[in-house]
Amino acid sequence: MDLTTFEEVLGLFADTALIALLYGYGEPLLDPTIGEKIETCSRAGVTSMISTDLLPADRKVIADVVDAGIDAIRISLHGDSRGTYEKYARTDKYEEVLDNLRFLLAYRSRREKHLLIEWLFCFHNYNVHEIESARQKARDMGVDHFRVTPLWVPPEAASEWMPPQVLEEFVKDAADLTCSIHYREIMVNWDGTLRPCCRNERTLKLDLGDFRDFEELWKGPIYKYIRNVSSGRCKPDAAMEVPCNVCEIVSGRKVPNW
Ligand SMILES: C[S@@+](CC[C@H](N)C(=O)[O-])C[C@H]1O[C@@H](n2cnc3c(N)ncnc32)[C@H](O)[C@@H]1O
Ligand code: SF4
Repeated sequence: MDLTTFEEVLGLFADTALIALLYGYGEPLLDPTIGEKIETCSRAGVTSMISTDLLPADRKVIADVVDAGIDAIRISLHGDSRGTYEKYARTDKYEEVLDNLRFLLAYRSRREKHLLIEWLFCFHNYNVHEIESARQKARDMGVDHFRVTPLWVPPEAASEWMPPQVLEEFVKDAADLTCSIHYREIMVNWDGTLRPCCRNERTLKLDLGDFRDFEELWKGPIYKYIRNVSSGRCKPDAAMEVPCNVCEIVSGRKVPNW
């Protein structure tokens, strides 16, 4: 997203927004304007966070993000060995990610920044046995928070990547199968189109409209449908092309109580 659009987004939502998640489906450390976006958030009094796979090897970019005043960084690192990491990430740069994480932790200390660093471990069939060793590694390295969550997989890949026994063993505390994410979160794409959350269902038209029309959209039929279907007040309607129709929360699959 270019800076002008970003400033427009913040201008519209800054008064009520608590946190700006400065990433979507891409990689925020590859965004040449990421530092300026972080500074814009600070000026507007909005907490900023990025989620990154830490793969760009350019340490200067990592340092610049810390210096710009980012409040929280989530590291997507779904494995505790090169083999399991590679299975999903499709790259053998596991050691490079760990080195970058060590650099980030050391740089935070050196600059005495109040910055939360979280390791996100999305578990699946091939890495589930490494959760505890990764948790210990995170602790030893000085990471503030280790978060475990199931990998989202498309239905056609579920039997390989997320067989029921893997999910159920770790999701003992099932949620009540309703969703309130769309009350807390708005996703604005690079081009200003708006989604109710970050679900990336490839077969559906997901954009609800332009973020500048948010108020109108929020009161309109699509958001009304999202509120109804995600809380079980109505059945999924195939004519409404929204991600909720295929979301496990609506379809009744067991989901973790985040
Ligand atoms: C799509 S990523 C993009 C941001 C950045 N490139 C990264 O890797 O963190 C956004 C967030 O979704 C998480 N994520 C990615 N694929 C996922 C999946 N299949 N299931 C659950 N979370 C996933 C990532 O770990 C990250 O926190
Ligand atoms: S797609 Fe799922 S998570 Fe997203 S708003 Fe709809 S019900 Fe909630």
